[in-house]
This record gives sequence, structure tokens and C-alpha cells, in this order.
Amino acid sequence: MQAISVLGSTGSIGVSTLDVVARHPERYQVYALTAHSRVDELAAQCARFRPQVAVVGTAQAAQTLQQKLRALDVRTEVMHGAQALCDVASAGGCDVVMAAIVGAAGLASTLAAARAGKKILLANKEALVMAGQLLIDSVAMHKATLLPIDSEHNAIFQCLPHDFGRSLEEGGIAKILLTASGGPFLKRPVETLDSVTPDEAVAHPKWVMGRKISVDSATMMNKGLEVIEAHWLFGAPADRIEVMIHPQSVIHSMVSYIDGSVLAQLGNPDMRTPIANALAYPDRIESGVAQLDLVQIGQLFFERPDFTRFPCLKLAYDALQAGGSSAAILNAANEVAVQAFLNQEIGFRMIDQVIARVMDRLPHGPLADIDALIEQDRVARSIAQSCLSLSS
Ligand SMILES: NC(=O)c1ccc[n+]([C@@H]2O[C@H](COP(=O)([O-])OP(=O)(O)OC[C@H]3O[C@@H](n4cnc5c(N)ncnc54)[C@H](OP(=O)(O)O)[C@@H]3O)[C@@H](O)[C@H]2O)c1
Repeated sequence: MQAISVLGSTGSIGVSTLDVVARHPERYQVYALTAHSRVDELAAQCARFRPQVAVVGTAQAAQTLQQKLRALDVRTEVMHGAQALCDVASAGGCDVVMAAIVGAAGLASTLAAARAGKKILLANKEALVMAGQLLIDSVAMHKATLLPIDSEHNAIFQCLPHDFGRSLEEGGIAKILLTASGGPFLKRPVETLDSVTPDEAVAHPKWVMGRKISVDSATMMNKGLEVIEAHWLFGAPADRIEVMIHPQSVIHSMVSYIDGSVLAQLGNPDMRTPIANALAYPDRIESGVAQLDLVQIGQLFFERPDFTRFPCLKLAYDALQAGGSSAAILNAANEVAVQAFLNQEIGFRMIDQVIARVMDRLPHGPLADIDALIEQDRVARSIAQSCLSLSS
């Protein structure tokens, strides 16, 4: 029996994780559930899964949750704040941590899980984008296990040799081929992108996801973040990670080998597959996802991404190539710009412009430690905020 802390349990990945967990009560029990502000949803999850601990963002939310749990006769201990997230990620009673908080807010708890040597199921790609070297070093030093939940990286993980270290050469690997759906604006005339609304941007054609990652998919910054994530997970330089648009989202990614073989992982677009894969690895468990019917699909299509339509993807490649703090700056500027777009403070096409301005204005350099990273993140957010007011 394994005990799991689901960080971000009320989100899209959190809900899918609990769906898989509920199918296997003989294998998994829930140690902790965490949310930020959706207290009603968290209370209902606590009533169903009976975790030892539940965490919310503020003292006020904790008080509300406490009252709801009392009314439901649920004896879960309630905690709040960023330190409580780190505590449940590193607690002795927990074996597995699903890191599914969105954005930089998920970094500290992911690092805490790594330092405590946990098995980490990593959905929070922003942690790896911001703190790649620090997180990878921490995982190695504390003998933690890092398994990718992003469907693309989970697909690559499944297509790699079983004894893969972190060298493409040793594995005979020529390239990592990351597939991308192209999001909701793949075919929309570029000159009309100025007028898209947040609701249009979050209406992803293939995946049901949280609002931030849905906007990232529409700009293709999501794929850019995934390129950086692939670099850290698989030790691949930027020029050996190729992005390929595949609108059907049936092939979740591929590994191209030096002998000419290409291995792909296919499946219906449902995050319960990578979640079940990582949760049970190296076993296979039922996930609730329907079997793929390739005959019904008939044909698979691919095209190369266009950097004019998707400048965010180019910005992410540039940040990876620049190294040091560049990716952390990119991530911070993107989070600010996406939130401003969702708040209808800036237009869709301003997102990449805000990020480009922040990257121009803030010189990047090496990141010595987590404190330096947090300071860089703070400065980048502040410059991004000032760029927002210039753009309105
Ligand atoms: N959704 C997908 O299919 C998918 C696929 C691959 C990777 N990912 C990655 O997985 C992560 C989660 O994505 P999602 O789509 O599940 O996001 P989501 O639906 O927006 O859920 C985010 C979760 O994080 C919590 N949260 C938000 N801000 C927080 C803060 N400041 N402190 C602590 N908790 C906070 C939310 O709590 P409340 O509910 O209370 O707000 C919620 O539980 C992201 O990094 C995303 O890139 C997602």
C-alpha cells in the first residue's frame, strides 16, 4: 500500500489523479490533499478519500474548510500556507507526491519532496523550467525518483531504453520528437489573434486542462516549457529536441534512434494514462481510459510549427540556449502575462511581447542557489508588471 500526497488536488490533474487512485484502493491510500481556494471541492474530496491532512492557501480558507469537515464528520487535520505544502510533501507518512500545483507556486513543495527522497510524479513543469539544475541535483542527492506526468514526457519516458541514464549518446538516441496539438488557433488567421477572448483561448480542441496551461497551449508557450522540461529530464540539448505539430494528439511523443528506428507512444488524449503509468511504474494498472481505435482514426497528420504564429515557442528555445536564469525569467514573465490576459488587461498577442521585453531588459546569469532563483523570479515579475502598464 502506498500513501500519496496530491498537491493541487482540486485542479484538472489532481482530479484525474484521484480518479485513478479510487480505482485501486488495494494499492493506494491518500495521505494529503491540497488546494488554494476551492474549499468546497476540497471538502468533498476529503469526505471521499479521508486524508490525514488537507492544506489550503490562507487561514480564512482553513477555518472555512474546518467547519465544512466538522459538518461532514471528517477528521482530517487542516493546515494552511506554503510551509504546510512542503510539510505534506516531505512527511514520513507519505511515499508518493503528485506535484500538480500550477506555476511557480509549486516549486518549493516539489523541492521539499525531492529533499525528502520521495517518489515525485511531476506535472508542475514550471518547477523544472525555473530550477532545472537545482531540482535534478536534489533528486540525485537525496535518491528521490522523478517521473514525468506531462503526456509528452511520459511518452518519451516509455519510449526510452529501460536502462537509460541521462546521456543520449549511450542510449543511441538521435532526437527527441515532441508532439504538439497546435492548440485552438492553429488555423486561425494570425491577424485576427489580437481579438481572441480568454474563453476562446482556453477552449482546447483535444485536452481539458486548467486555464493557465490552456492559454500556454494556445500560444504554444506550453510546448516551449516542455522543450526545457525535456532538456532537464532527458539531458537533451535544444538542437536535439524537435517540436512537431500533430493536431489529433494521438501520438504523445517519440524517440528517434541513430539506427533509423522511431519509437512512439500512442493513446487517447486523457491524462489518466500518464498518471496511471507513473503511479504504478514499473507495473501497468487500469486507468479508466478507453482503448485507442486506430482504424476509426484512419490517418495521422503532422506539420512543422511556424514561429511567426507561435513566437512564444521561439522565445523558449532562445531561453534554453541562453541558459542560466533565462528560463526562470521566461517563466515568470509568462505567468504574469497569461494572468493579465485572463484578467482581460492585455490582448492575446501582447503575451509574447511582454515576455520578449522582460527577457531583453533583465540580463540573465548563473543561478547559484534557490535564494538567487527566488530573487530573479521576483525581479522578472516586477518588470513584467511594468511592461503590462506600458502596453495598455
Ligand atoms: N491539465 C493538464 O492536462 C496538464 C497536463 C500536463 C501538465 N500539466 C501541468 O500540471 C500543473 C497543474 O495543471 P492543471 O491544469 O491541473 O491546473 P489547475 O486545474 O489550474 O489546478 C491547479 C491546482 O493548483 C492549486 N493552486 C493554484 N494556485 C496555488 C497556489 N498559489 N498555492 C497552492 N496551490 C495552488 C489549485 O487550487 P484551487 O483549485 O483551490 O485554485 C489547483 O488545485 C501545471 O503545472 C500544468 O502545466 C497539466
